[in-house]
Amino acid sequence: MKKTIPATTPEPYARDIARVLIEEEALQQRIAEMGAIISRDYEGKRPLFVGVLKGVLFFMADLLRAVHIPLEVDFMSISSYSPETRDHGMVRIIKDLETPLEGRHVIFVEDMIDTGLTLGYLLRLLAARNPASLEVAVLFDKPSRRILNIQPRYLGFRLPDLFVVGYGLDYHELYRNLPFIGVLKPNVFRSPP
Ligand code: IMP
Ligand code: MG
Repeated sequence: MKKTIPATTPEPYARDIARVLIEEEALQQRIAEMGAIISRDYEGKRPLFVGVLKGVLFFMADLLRAVHIPLEVDFMSISSYSPETRDHGMVRIIKDLETPLEGRHVIFVEDMIDTGLTLGYLLRLLAARNPASLEVAVLFDKPSRRILNIQPRYLGFRLPDLFVVGYGLDYHELYRNLPFIGVLKPNVFRSPP
């Protein structure tokens, strides 16, 4: 059944959206399930959730509220050096974590694994800080595009090889504030905003 674009969608966005891939309710239901599983797995461990800005913003906010045990959260901010170095998964840290990872149970939270290069680089970096454990929670996985073999411990949805926006994910910084996951019309990619 075709999912309808919610009436609350701003008109400039609605014009650009070809279709809704995952509705808000489905996102929230799956995140609640992930939170329940993490709560059970980390009982008594006071996990530290680590996220990379900005794409993880809404997923982190909703996931944390679905985890019903004491926890801590911290963020880092990165940028890829250039299209060339991005191929090697090299990233530059713009803002590092404030929390030492030594001895902590760390859950690395990401919006999307695509090639896995970004995640692979960051996991090596965090592992070098000697956490007691290091697991990955990812909302979306595009397995068909994987270069580095990374299996997240917690996964929300598998996606086909499509560029998606909404729920924190952007195209040229727009569409992040859509509460659902949408697919853009092809003409949007031909004329960037
Ligand atoms: P990779 O795994 O190193 O290829 O990079 C994954 C990152 O690329 C994600 O964290 C997103 O920021 C971005 N990305 C990948 N696919 C999409 C998409 O469909 N929409 C928006 N951003 C995406
Ligand atoms: Mg990202």
